[in-house]
Amino acid sequence: MNAAAMNASPAYDVDAIREQFPILRRRVYGKPLVYLDNAASAQKPRAVIDRMTDAMTRSYANVHRGLHCLSNEATAAFEEARRSVARFVNAPSPDEIVFTSGGTDAFNLVAYSLGAAGIGPGDEIVLSVMEHHSNIVPWHILRERMGVVLRWIDATDDGLIDPDAFEAAFSPRTKLAAVTHMSNVMGAPTDARELARIAHAHGAKILFDGCQAGVHGKIDVQAIDADFYVLTAHKLYGPSGVGALYGKSDALAAMPPFRGGGEMIDIVEKDRVTYNDPPHRFEAGTPPIVEAIGFGAAVEWMMNVGVEAIAAHEAILAEKALVELGALDFVTIYGRAANKAPIICFNVAGAHPHDVSSIVDRAGVAIRAGHHCAQPLMKRLGVTATCRASFGAYNSEDDVAALVEGLQKTHDLLG
Ligand code: ALA
Repeated sequence: MNAAAMNASPAYDVDAIREQFPILRRRVYGKPLVYLDNAASAQKPRAVIDRMTDAMTRSYANVHRGLHCLSNEATAAFEEARRSVARFVNAPSPDEIVFTSGGTDAFNLVAYSLGAAGIGPGDEIVLSVMEHHSNIVPWHILRERMGVVLRWIDATDDGLIDPDAFEAAFSPRTKLAAVTHMSNVMGAPTDARELARIAHAHGAKILFDGCQAGVHGKIDVQAIDADFYVLTAHKLYGPSGVGALYGKSDALAAMPPFRGGGEMIDIVEKDRVTYNDPPHRFEAGTPPIVEAIGFGAAVEWMMNVGVEAIAAHEAILAEKALVELGALDFVTIYGRAANKAPIICFNVAGAHPHDVSSIVDRAGVAIRAGHHCAQPLMKRLGVTATCRASFGAYNSEDDVAALVEGLQKTHDLLG
């Protein structure tokens, strides 16, 4: 039985989706590739590859700088991509979408700019223990630079944030909560709307790390009432080197620039400088032009396939993986939230995660092993590292079976 026939969601043709990803035709070590490292970075569909190739072969020039034909075409494509990203997260205006070099750059932008105006010594920032290092270290830098206080909240065993625990961390000095909308380890969607309501009730702003949540469900920054929302393109079937910061227009307007350079200015004289309006104020220098255009193509691809349809397909994979891995008595799974995305961290008894990853790799199965840039969470879980299998739009139930078979062989070899 082929993957499409096995798939319990007949409307979703996973074979047709797979056909659109050229890399899935390759073999590794003579075996068909089973790519289960999507939470680290996803593969790219033909629509993205072709759009980026077209941008470079037909319409490439710098953006916002030239009056010639190619510059006009490149600028139009770049700004069209911004509109696509705005639509993807339901931002009220594309001017609220800042292109960054990725998720990390977006967190650093907010930390730096709020540190320059808005957050001062003794002010508090609420973080969860589940945060990725990219949503921890910029705040540590602010702590070191200006004495900001970090208030940590725990996560539940299933990778959720308890609203009461969250609220207990607030004080009159809290300026911002910076929390994940979905941990890259636990895969559970946090209750963003409720967390935002609590933050706002305490007069604080809230920033969500949407780098994983954006991949696995519809994002609506207005419904959530996010002040800031961070995405990275390479996990959304787009290129690396580009991401986006959504910021409410009044929040962005109040923030000073992060980096200085071309395009982010209004007037530059010998003794003064004035700055451009957002989003350009935060896009110093030549931006990642082709990458941003590819980002736009990637989210258009997701919206064309259907973000909800992808999520429904992934829910089937998550359920199957949890059941089948759960049936292996030598496997410990971390996090089993009911509506978990197919991001599954686990350990194999008696085997180091790196060894597990290396052994299943020889069978063509690509998983991640390590601390997943989430050391505080590893400590919370009582481990130093885990394996992680993360599924995406093109994975099939056959891929779950390949993982289970690989783990059984690993156990037989090392157990
Ligand atoms: N943040 C990426 C991951 O979780 C790299 O693997």
